Amino acid sequence: MDSREIRSRFLKFFEKRGHAVIPSAPLVPENDPSVLFNTAGMQPLVPYLMGAPHPQGKRLVNAQKCVRTQDIDEVGDNTHDTFFEMLGNWSLGDYFKEDAIKWSYEFLTSKEEGLGLDPKRLYVTVFEGNNDAPRDNEAFEIWKKYVPENRIYFMPAKSNWWSPGDNGPCGPDTEMFYDVTERGLGDMTKEEYMAADDRQDVVEIWNDVFMEYEKEGGKVVGKLASKNVDTGSGLERVVMMVQGKNNIFDTDLFVSVMGKIKELVGGEIRDVRASRIVADHIRTGVMIIADGVRPANTDQGYILRRLLRRAVRYADVLGIGHNMLAGLVPIIAEKYTGVYDNVAAQATFIADEIRKEEEKFRQMLERGMKEFAHISKRGGVSAVDVFQLFSTYGFPLEMTEELAKEQGITVDRAGFEAEFKKHQDLSRTSTEGKFKGGLANNSEKTTALHTATHLMLAGLRKYLGDSVHQAGSNITEERTRFDFTYPEKVPRDVLDKVEAYVNEAIGKHSIVKIEQMKKEDAKAAGVEGSFWEKYPDVVNVYSVVVPDSTTYSRELCGGPHVVQTEGMGKFKIVKEEASSAGIRRIKAVLE
Ligand code: ALA
Repeated sequence: MDSREIRSRFLKFFEKRGHAVIPSAPLVPENDPSVLFNTAGMQPLVPYLMGAPHPQGKRLVNAQKCVRTQDIDEVGDNTHDTFFEMLGNWSLGDYFKEDAIKWSYEFLTSKEEGLGLDPKRLYVTVFEGNNDAPRDNEAFEIWKKYVPENRIYFMPAKSNWWSPGDNGPCGPDTEMFYDVTERGLGDMTKEEYMAADDRQDVVEIWNDVFMEYEKEGGKVVGKLASKNVDTGSGLERVVMMVQGKNNIFDTDLFVSVMGKIKELVGGEIRDVRASRIVADHIRTGVMIIADGVRPANTDQGYILRRLLRRAVRYADVLGIGHNMLAGLVPIIAEKYTGVYDNVAAQATFIADEIRKEEEKFRQMLERGMKEFAHISKRGGVSAVDVFQLFSTYGFPLEMTEELAKEQGITVDRAGFEAEFKKHQDLSRTSTEGKFKGGLANNSEKTTALHTATHLMLAGLRKYLGDSVHQAGSNITEERTRFDFTYPEKVPRDVLDKVEAYVNEAIGKHSIVKIEQMKKEDAKAAGVEGSFWEKYPDVVNVYSVVVPDSTTYSRELCGGPHVVQTEGMGKFKIVKEEASSAGIRRIKAVLE
């Protein structure tokens, strides 16, 4: 049975039992800024689990595309991947434990309608209880009808309580595991079962969550209006078990991709882990690009960039030639034809994006590795080093960490993350409109033009003197319109110099640093700013700098700004004119 047949059997099984088949939501959540990608089938359904009526009724089923990258270091083992499809059926205040468990069991074991898995290889866990909810004896009693009692284990909340985060619907769950060993494990004590789980001799195949509670700020605060069922079964793992493989890369979902990688290597693959990483990351990259994301330095685009760059690095480990990874795209697209048709429809475009990102990365890889060799001689990688490797050479954090690990040196991850998070938090605040200022939105293009505007003001002050200050701004994705204090027309040759100044800062791959300072201290330090009175006592100061070298701009601001200037484009002043008495206006673009 191939993956296509398994996906379709799942949907049909539940359709026959009154469930409406709904399509997968796109990978990027439409209305949930708390996560970058959907990480579970229930995520797009949260409003309905919380009580809103779903237009297609109370029983739903689908396969949902998901991306999870928190276990990225595990990719390359038998079961971890960063993209997967989650098969799920939902009851929105309709059936509960009895039917959910019965149908899970039937689908797993039925030869006619389900997967025909061997019931003797099945193990089950149920919730042991805590202050939030009692021991789930009900689920235990129901399971006893299908599975011998000594193969049902009570487990703590750590493994058997499910919630998508600190807020929202949640509840105890019951999980099903399948024995993937050749000889078969037979009866096991709880301890033996846990050890088998650690060895991946048993693999989780399905999770039924009984969602009747609600969390706020990480604490259970009460019960939901109705009792729901949220189930999740990872297609890749299911396929692995049905096809009798001990790893997902030997299943039909990956076999053709792995074959192509072997062809690109031109012989036997010596580093299996590296080949799996390449297969996984390119597949995930393809699915993310198909859903509209482009490589970038923030949010979803940054995850995509990390995945593609990591794939390039492992392609080098394998000895795959340059710019060959894009060759995997048609093979991946073929696997999803008729399932996610937006992949095949955009295959050429996706391959181009991957090729472009590889080229971009390679332009700096060699120089970056030399820089890393210098840094490693110092015996540790500081937050500034990480930032510089990231901003100047495009090294994602994990890559620096992996290189450091290979050398046995440490990385100041916390320092780097704190700095990076500041940018992201401030971007988020400004999306909420608190600091919106003159920005039309906080898209990547608008944000880049905002950073360019800071550089332009610094350039204007450099060539026209310190009496120049901002008088207003309006920034969209297309252009920045900037008003500043100056009594007369600015000659074109000065505008050219300002342009050159901005482009120099961009070309040097500067980073944008954020400092929090007391307002008086910032003023005393000569930080540029207008409208000081509008800001609180502690202000954010944004500087565009080449670390340990040049400061191009240092200005009071509420963000958002790019993390670094690489890839912003070429800055051009297209117009300079009078705005009102003593105020000039510039229109400028990034090309
Ligand atoms: N939401 C549950 C999970 O992702 C089913 O495991």
